[in-house]
Amino acid sequence: MIIARTLEELRHAKELQKDKSLALVPTMGALHEGHMALVKRAKNLAPFTAVSIFVNPIQFDQQSDFQRYPKTEEADLELLKEQQVDLVWIPEVEAMYPKGFATRVTVGGPSLQWEGALRHGHFEGVSTVVSRLFALLKPQYACFGEKDWQQLQVIRRMVEDLVLPVVIEGVPIIREEDGLAKSSRNRFLTDSQRSRAALLIQTLRKAKIALEAGQNIAIVQKGATDFLEKNGFKVDYLAAVEGRSMEALDVWKPTARLIAAAHLGSVRLLDNL
Ligand code: PAF
Repeated sequence: MIIARTLEELRHAKELQKDKSLALVPTMGALHEGHMALVKRAKNLAPFTAVSIFVNPIQFDQQSDFQRYPKTEEADLELLKEQQVDLVWIPEVEAMYPKGFATRVTVGGPSLQWEGALRHGHFEGVSTVVSRLFALLKPQYACFGEKDWQQLQVIRRMVEDLVLPVVIEGVPIIREEDGLAKSSRNRFLTDSQRSRAALLIQTLRKAKIALEAGQNIAIVQKGATDFLEKNGFKVDYLAAVEGRSMEALDVWKPTARLIAAAHLGSVRLLDNL
């Protein structure tokens, strides 16, 4: 496994790739089984697999969230070695954003609501870093988790609009036994919060059944939100949206996605169904 930390080392690693096609898994580290599912998909897609580990400062709207983002480099590299990843790109900030870097990639459409409305500049930070990763690594495929459903739609939109020569693969959410979606931030839940955290997906599952049975979207959304709030969650949003455009629905349809973001203490949980 090649570990590249500088642009020079990355150039050298790219030479070793020769004419093999490359599947990239962009990450911010603190790797868990969810990321490993992305790596496995990448390995099925192309003979050369790369994982990037970069905690991207420009996608955090809260400096405190950036500062406390878990960093577990040694364990991450061990996991990637076990999976026989070919290349790990683990740059310093200066390699991703050299002095004078002044470009931002802004996607409209699916980025505008939900996370985009609540976390100012977040998706701009994501689209910018992902564009630069694509430009540096030139992958034929890139894998993203469906856990960040809106992020996946924003990246799909960007790739389509800019005709970027990369195929975007969405990989289903990996869950704990009780249904909680795996996330690097789950480690910050206290025992009491952890025992309630799966209520988020359980509530979405019940809401989906009600919506498929034809119940009114606004009423189901309100009932689900009230239930979560009674159980100690502070809900940012819980909504039925069109799965690609991320526009709110007032009538349920098969391409709908139920999305939710809610705080449990200091941890913000994100899920979708
Ligand atoms: O989903 C993530 O971990 C990040 O948003 C990504 C795609 C690696 C960009 O920094």
